Amino acid sequence: MLNIAIVGCGWVSDWHVADGVAHLPERFRVLACCDTNPERLDAFAVRYGTERKVSDYDAVLAMPDIDVVVICTPPALHHHMTMAALKAGKHVVCEKPFTASLAQVDEIIAEEARSRGRCMPIFNCRFGNGIARVRHVITCGLAGRHFVSSAETAKRRGPDYYAVAWRGKFATELGGVLLTQAIHTHDLLLWLIGAPAEVSCFKTTRVNPIEVEDCAVATLRMADGSLASITATLGSTRQVTRLRLCFENVTFEREAYDEASAKPGTEPWTILPKTPEIGQAIEARLSEITPQHEWFVRQYELFADALEAGTPFPVTLADARLSIELVTAMFEADETRSVVQLPIQAGHPKYEGWLPQRSA
Ligand SMILES: NC(=O)c1ccc[n+]([C@@H]2O[C@H](COP(=O)([O-])OP(=O)(O)OC[C@H]3O[C@@H](n4cnc5c(N)ncnc54)[C@H](O)[C@@H]3O)[C@@H](O)[C@H]2O)c1
Repeated sequence: MLNIAIVGCGWVSDWHVADGVAHLPERFRVLACCDTNPERLDAFAVRYGTERKVSDYDAVLAMPDIDVVVICTPPALHHHMTMAALKAGKHVVCEKPFTASLAQVDEIIAEEARSRGRCMPIFNCRFGNGIARVRHVITCGLAGRHFVSSAETAKRRGPDYYAVAWRGKFATELGGVLLTQAIHTHDLLLWLIGAPAEVSCFKTTRVNPIEVEDCAVATLRMADGSLASITATLGSTRQVTRLRLCFENVTFEREAYDEASAKPGTEPWTILPKTPEIGQAIEARLSEITPQHEWFVRQYELFADALEAGTPFPVTLADARLSIELVTAMFEADETRSVVQLPIQAGHPKYEGWLPQRSA
């Protein structure tokens, strides 16, 4: 049994509990909650019958019987809170966007190597039975070479969304649609087709009067020479997440509208084989996998399995690093009107971050 503390009792904390650990009572117990907002804290403690509630994060880290700290605070706090938890020997589950820079991710990777604790970034959209089928076809080699893919994240956000103080500002949200909404779709894309070698991007703010970007387009050239395109906006009348991946032997498609646009990993994914023979081979391989839990519950289930077995987490620090590397490249490409080469390492102008005050 793992005792967990939820830190930040806002919107997403309910997904971690009600859509996550509450479904695994034999593996997780929410022992503590922490929030600087007393109303939020009290309401969360009542909602989930949480034994302990504190406003001070250090008090959580001082509890010897807390095994896992779950960080659901605004983005700019993730790095500091993750580092402190690892230093205290706790396991960490941390929300997206993981950090404000590649330098911060690398610092966490180094700290995790020294710590008794381990750290799993959240990418809940990976856990769906639709995308599990797609990934199985790709990883078993049946899809063949990747040609070209497109990923579209079209959401609608207005003044009510930006009424929350931390949103819309670089200092607290770290970025806009590329950091907060589309980061999930981009993680799915790279999880399926691999890391890019070159990135170009334009981004702008046109939908809301905010500091951060709310529209973006980008093009990627992958290490194997294949291509991908990205579109992201917060100004779409109808919300949609759309992924289309063309491989040598098969095309994969998923269009998820409205509520479902938050869960692009779930069915229905369409798998279109090039020939009936390839279709039969795909069917045979797909019979090897069975439907699993989805969404947060599946990520937590695999987290507990990995802790028990000492195996890698279902989302690794390398995965979070790649998501932050893509953001870094997109910000650099837009600012310099250039094509940015990956990987990005220490010494790159944006290795320490893309925030305007940092690059000033
Ligand atoms: N994985 C997903 O699908 C998903 C969905 C929504 C949000 N998120 C991410 O989750 C994070 C939180 O987003 P949210 O929408 O829940 O925000 P929110 O504003 O609803 O909740 C954040 C909470 O953190 C609390 N907080 C702030 N500073 C704190 C501190 N120092 N110590 C303790 N608590 C503190 C706030 O009082 C607030 O209750 C963000 O990084 C966001 O991008 C992820």
